[in-house]
Amino acid sequence: MRLLWTLPTLWLLVVQSLSAHRARTRRELAPGLHERGIRDASGSYCERSDACCRGRDDACTVPYLDTLCYCDLFCNRTVSDCCPDFWDYCLGIPPPLPVQKDCVRGGHKYPPGATYRENCNLCTCDRNGQWDCEQHACLIDEEMIEAINRGYYGWRAANYSHFWGMTLDEGIRYRLGTIKPPSTVMNMNELQMNMDTNEVLPSHFSAADKWPGLILEPLDQGDCAGSWAFSTAVVASDRIAIHSMGHMTPALSPQNLISCDTRNQQGCSGGRIDRAWWYLRRRGVVTASCYPFTSREKDSGPASRPCMMHSRATGRGKRQATQRCPNPQTHSNEIFQSTPAYRLSSNEKEIMKELMKNGPVQAIMEVHEDFFVYKSGVYRHTPVMAGKPEHHRRHGTHSVKITGWGEERTSHGQTQKYWVAANSWGQHWGESGYFRIARGANECEIETFVVGVWGRVSMEDVQRRK
Ligand SMILES: *[C@@H]1O[C@H](CO)[C@@H](O)[C@H](O)[C@H]1NC(C)=O
Repeated sequence: MRLLWTLPTLWLLVVQSLSAHRARTRRELAPGLHERGIRDASGSYCERSDACCRGRDDACTVPYLDTLCYCDLFCNRTVSDCCPDFWDYCLGIPPPLPVQKDCVRGGHKYPPGATYRENCNLCTCDRNGQWDCEQHACLIDEEMIEAINRGYYGWRAANYSHFWGMTLDEGIRYRLGTIKPPSTVMNMNELQMNMDTNEVLPSHFSAADKWPGLILEPLDQGDCAGSWAFSTAVVASDRIAIHSMGHMTPALSPQNLISCDTRNQQGCSGGRIDRAWWYLRRRGVVTASCYPFTSREKDSGPASRPCMMHSRATGRGKRQATQRCPNPQTHSNEIFQSTPAYRLSSNEKEIMKELMKNGPVQAIMEVHEDFFVYKSGVYRHTPVMAGKPEHHRRHGTHSVKITGWGEERTSHGQTQKYWVAANSWGQHWGESGYFRIARGANECEIETFVVGVWGRVSMEDVQRRK
């Protein structure tokens, strides 16, 4: 039966008496449909079923979500069971203001469902007027920064805007990216040096001072967990430059490794450095200007970045790739290779000797939650988060390039020895992209797995470039 507002009064009276005969007790909808605000404010119900009823008519209903709503004049008497468009469509007036509790923040009111971000956590205004916030551990934790700076641990912590808003788990997942080699690799290939244990090494050393212009500045891996490719590319670049005596100064492409060294490697989800070195030896890698870094964003999986630089042209003296550079502005698709990488012993002095003699080395380290906020000084993992719930204490495996060492007097009058290492979190992080870390104590396992390599440089190469 269709009832129209515009029908003659007589017709309406008939209809009303008819419906009275079928009188049912109105189903009490408690609480009222709109007590907490109209759930479907834009819906058309009375309008769509063309059902506006004068007086009381318990049959004058329309399905509404999982229940019924009414379009009769009495729908609003005790509790409001009116359809959302009843006031508007049947009465021609705006609907009553919904009854709901607002949340308050900074002197302003926000309706239920409103959200704001508090660092890495999303807060939502719930129906009771309370802000309900997620409870993730954030990568930048103000309390942790203050505790480090208050505690005189020998280093300073700072806020980084490019880490702000990330969770600690995201930091571990997207900013590191080295998989520990299995024990078979860890135990192999250790280079035995004939160490003269009495040999005196300088108290300070910097690769950039010894080989000016040949050492690459720290890179930025973005949200790509590919430190395995970054640390390998920079150590190989430096060593090719040093071993060619500056005749070749390539800045090798981490992207080439990320996209093409894919056998048992996970690209921007992590990889192993021993496999990266294997690839550099067998296949070789082009420069970063030929094959630029394009996987800066989160979760750019291997499928999104296919390998564009697979093979090397074969034949004596051929050092060209068979493909053109992915970057059309660069024409030189020359491929650079290395000799097999070798593992150094964990002896501090042996690492120093190797560094001084042959150039920067690659090191694997464990990164803990407090390392992300390192700003300056000599880093040691601090216990400031020891009392916090476990999800505030996380660590993951990373790899970096060690470029030098030194020592300084602490405020307690002791001598603090340190390594200088280049990270791959950009040059705004730490000491212009570098950090110093305690030396001789295997801090964060940085002395456990240290690797060197020879650039594959022939006299022919050197002659060719003269
Ligand atoms: C940290 O930096 C972010 C972004 O620059 C800023 O919004 C936030 O207020 C800073 N936090 C602290 C504790 O200074």
